[in-house]
Amino acid sequence: MARRVSKRKAPSKEDYQLKERTKLESYVFDRRIMLLLSSMIKKGILGGMDYPISTGKEANVFRATTPDGTFVAVKIYKITTAGFEKKMSYLEGDPRFGMIKRNEREIVKLFARKEFKNLQICERAGVHAPRPFYLSDDIVVMEFLGEEGMPYATMNMLGPRGESDLDSILEDIRKMYRAGLVHADISEYNVMLGPVPYLIDFGQGVVLAHPNAEKFLERDIRNILHYFEKFGITRDFEKTMKWIKG
Ligand SMILES: Nc1ncnc2c1ncn2[C@@H]1O[C@H](COP(=O)(O)OP(=O)(O)OP(=O)(O)O)[C@@H](O)[C@H]1O
Ligand SMILES: [Mg+2]
Repeated sequence: MARRVSKRKAPSKEDYQLKERTKLESYVFDRRIMLLLSSMIKKGILGGMDYPISTGKEANVFRATTPDGTFVAVKIYKITTAGFEKKMSYLEGDPRFGMIKRNEREIVKLFARKEFKNLQICERAGVHAPRPFYLSDDIVVMEFLGEEGMPYATMNMLGPRGESDLDSILEDIRKMYRAGLVHADISEYNVMLGPVPYLIDFGQGVVLAHPNAEKFLERDIRNILHYFEKFGITRDFEKTMKWIKG
């Protein structure tokens, strides 16, 4: 019986490298992002990129290493048209951002800047959140939250470990409120479980001057109380709100 012989030429090493390179670029880094990252490497902010931790709709997050061998998290915001009007509403009411060009590229940068500034507020207020290190266009470099090189699990993966997790999260929301900030996207997906829970994903966070700040705070509290309720940990909503604002 005749063996079927493939006519296709085996790819050369160069073909393969080119394919891998374009795959990698189209996967996460377009040329512009590559340039921003290599400029950070030149400046000594990063030593190299390690691996993707999460690739999502809004952002990709990578582990990277600094020249002195410390792990950091690199969050690269993505251009998405989904939920454009909703996203705009978090920016437009925030007096820190003034007039906004309604252009996706600019808006993505603003979200990165917003996350960076919000993380700075958290750091000053002693909230358990990643420390912000560096901002460049749509890239935020921050403290890596993890252990032995692996990121901590998010709370949706493990479930809460007990009442103390809720106490810690509420305490952090209270500290943020006192510092004039509302997270506005609190959920089990945006909490990482280290020795204590850490809040992440501050791109939507607004200052209290935002016309919907109070509404966002209420929603955050309802979301987190509702989540813990499923595990039999209950708190009174009104009392909790009063305590946070008191
Ligand atoms: N500082 C960090 N250290 C380690 N891992 C992190 C850090 N920040 C984020 N992550 C990981 O990356 C994931 C996505 O991060 P984040 O929630 O900030 O992005 P996102 O805006 O929700 O992205 P998307 O909505 O596209 O999923 C988190 O669930 C977490 O697993
Ligand atoms: Mg998130």
